[in-house]
Amino acid sequence: MDNLLYFKPNRLISIDDLDAEDIKTLYGATLEFKKVLERPVKKVPALKDLTIANLFFEDSTRTRLSFELAEKRLGADVVNFSAASSSLKKGESLNDTVQNILKMKIDLIVVRHKVSGTAHFVYEKTKIPVINAGDGTNEHPTQALLDLFTLWQKGLKSEDLVIALKGDVIHSRVAGSSIKLWDKLGIQYKILGPPTVMRTHMKYESSNLSDQPFNVIYNLRIQKERQEKELIPSLEEYNQFYGTKVPNIDRVYYMHPGPINRGVELDSELADSAQSLILDQVEMGVALRMAVIYLLGQKKEA
Ligand code: NCD
Repeated sequence: MDNLLYFKPNRLISIDDLDAEDIKTLYGATLEFKKVLERPVKKVPALKDLTIANLFFEDSTRTRLSFELAEKRLGADVVNFSAASSSLKKGESLNDTVQNILKMKIDLIVVRHKVSGTAHFVYEKTKIPVINAGDGTNEHPTQALLDLFTLWQKGLKSEDLVIALKGDVIHSRVAGSSIKLWDKLGIQYKILGPPTVMRTHMKYESSNLSDQPFNVIYNLRIQKERQEKELIPSLEEYNQFYGTKVPNIDRVYYMHPGPINRGVELDSELADSAQSLILDQVEMGVALRMAVIYLLGQKKEA
């Protein structure tokens, strides 16, 4: 890959870490790794000398598997940490945990935590490349990047996209990163949902799609685990007024970062339809994360 010089950041904590050139480089590398994943032998020994720690302080299925698979496909050594089975249970501070892990000669950290700002904290404490795999309600940059890559793979160019971003925006770190990414690339979108789950100063419409000319409906999960106040009366009521339903608009793609609450954010029939990109998102996630890890992994030698 000859485009490494154009990837400047040594961390991916926020979409703010990337400029348009970095994004282009990243997607170029993602295309290369997508081709690798289509081969019978899906591995490249690109990062044989790299040791990566996946620090998952919060539950995750697909993101953790996706990162781990991406790391292994690149030939890296991988160690996994999950909060449930760690010394955190014994009262160890996050900083102590991180300092201990660092002493074990780790080259790159992937971190997920329920507190916003954790990825930044870990980067400040270690100064090694850190990838934010979701921090509280703040950001989840690789998800936003893989979602857009998925749309491009369907032949939708940035200038043709009109996205409806629906749902629990206030709690969604996917929304946090996606809005930044779309703004950066001049992609058109509208935010829809109940006023109680919108962020301050955000422009939104309290509607359930109506006849708007969207070509993508991005459904955000109702984050039951983060509802400290009763912002939504019930899941049934959310579905009744804001759920994406059959019959809906034709020629629209349906997206969701997972895990889906079937029958809440969108009807099962739509989630499983030919217009659904939900599993494509999961598939593209591995290639995109390979690209991020590969590009950041080069910073070790820099
Ligand atoms: C997202 C997350 O954890 O923020 N899921 C994911 O990474 N696949 C979205 C969500 O949980 O709602």
